[in-house]
Amino acid sequence: MRKKITVVGAGNVGATCAQELARRDYADVVLVDVIPNMPQGKALDLNQAGAVLGYEPKVVGTNGYDETEGSDVVVITAGKPRAPGMSRDDLVTTNEAIVGSVTREAVRRSPQAVLVVVSNPLDAMCHVAKATSRFPKRRVVGMAGILDTARFAAFVSQELGVSVREVTAMVLGGHGDQMVPVVSATSVGGVPLTDLLSAARIRKLVDRTRFGGGEIVQLLGTSAWYAPGAAAAQMVDAICLDQKRVLPCTAYLEGEYGIDGLYMGVPVKLGAGGVEEIVRLKLSADEKRMLRASAAAVREVVGVLKRR
Ligand code: NAI
Repeated sequence: MRKKITVVGAGNVGATCAQELARRDYADVVLVDVIPNMPQGKALDLNQAGAVLGYEPKVVGTNGYDETEGSDVVVITAGKPRAPGMSRDDLVTTNEAIVGSVTREAVRRSPQAVLVVVSNPLDAMCHVAKATSRFPKRRVVGMAGILDTARFAAFVSQELGVSVREVTAMVLGGHGDQMVPVVSATSVGGVPLTDLLSAARIRKLVDRTRFGGGEIVQLLGTSAWYAPGAAAAQMVDAICLDQKRVLPCTAYLEGEYGIDGLYMGVPVKLGAGGVEEIVRLKLSADEKRMLRASAAAVREVVGVLKRR
C-alpha cells in the first residue's frame, strides 16, 4: 500500500516539499493550508506535472483535516517566515499558536504519525508539537540540521572547487546564529577539512553558514524554500522507507551531549519509528563549548512558550 504524507502549510517550503515527495512516487500527499482555494490549486498543478515528469501520486489540497486521516508522516510548515531584520526567534508567539493548533488537528486524525516540524523558531516549535501531541519523543523531530549542513557543504565545495558530493559535513546545535558547524567531522573525499584550508578560511565558511539563512532573507525578503523543502523531504524518505539514515535532525535530548530536556540538532538514526537512536559524535572542547552556548540560546526561546 502507498504511504500517506500530510504537509501542513502550502506556502513556499510546504509546496516545495510536496513537489519533491510527489516526484518520489511512493506516497500520496495531502496539502493543507488556511488560505481558501490555494492548496487545491497547487495540488491540481502538482498532479498535472506528473503527466510531464511521469509520476502517479494523488496530491490532494484542502483547507481541512478530514483528508489527512491515517497519515504516516505529517510535515508542519505552517506559520510566518522571517522578513529582513527579523530573527527566527521573533516569530515565536505567532507561530506557537499556529503550530499548536495545526498539531492538535493533525494528530487527532493520525495518532500513529511521525511529526516532522519545520516552522520557526524550529527548536521551540518542536517543543510545542511534542507538548500538544503528547507523542513519544521519537515521533516528534525537527528539520534544520540537514539544511544548515547543506549550506556548509555547498560553501566548502565552492571554496575548494570540488563536487558537493565529496563533502561530508555536520552542523549541530540549535537552528539559530549559534549553530555549531562541526569542523572536526567535516572532510572532503576522506581528507579532513583542516588539512585543506587554513583556520581563517574555515572560520569564514563557518560564519557564512551560521548566517546562511539571513543572507537569503536579505536577498529575497523572505526565507529560503528550495533547500528547506528538499531537506524535509529527505527526512520523510528516511522515515517512510525505513532507511535508518544518520542525519542531523532536531531531537529531544535527555542527557545526551550533556543536555537535558531540550530539542537540539544532533545526528540521529532516522527510520520507520522516527528517531531510533541519537548518535554520539566525539566533539572537540571548543565544539562542546559552542554546543552549550547554543543550548542556552535555545532554552531562552523555549522559556517564553506557553506550552513546553
Ligand atoms: P510561507 O508564508 O510561504 O508559507 C506558510 C504557509 O502557512 C502560508 O501559506 C500560510 O497560509 C500557512 N498557514 C498559516 N497558518 C496556518 C494554519 N493555522 N494552518 C495551515 N496553514 C497555515 O512561509 P514558508 O517560507 O513556507 O515558511 C514556513 C515556515 O517554515 C516559517 O515559519 C519559516 O520560518 C520556516 N522555515 C524553517 C526552516 C528550517 O530550517 N527549519 C527553513 C525555512 C523556513
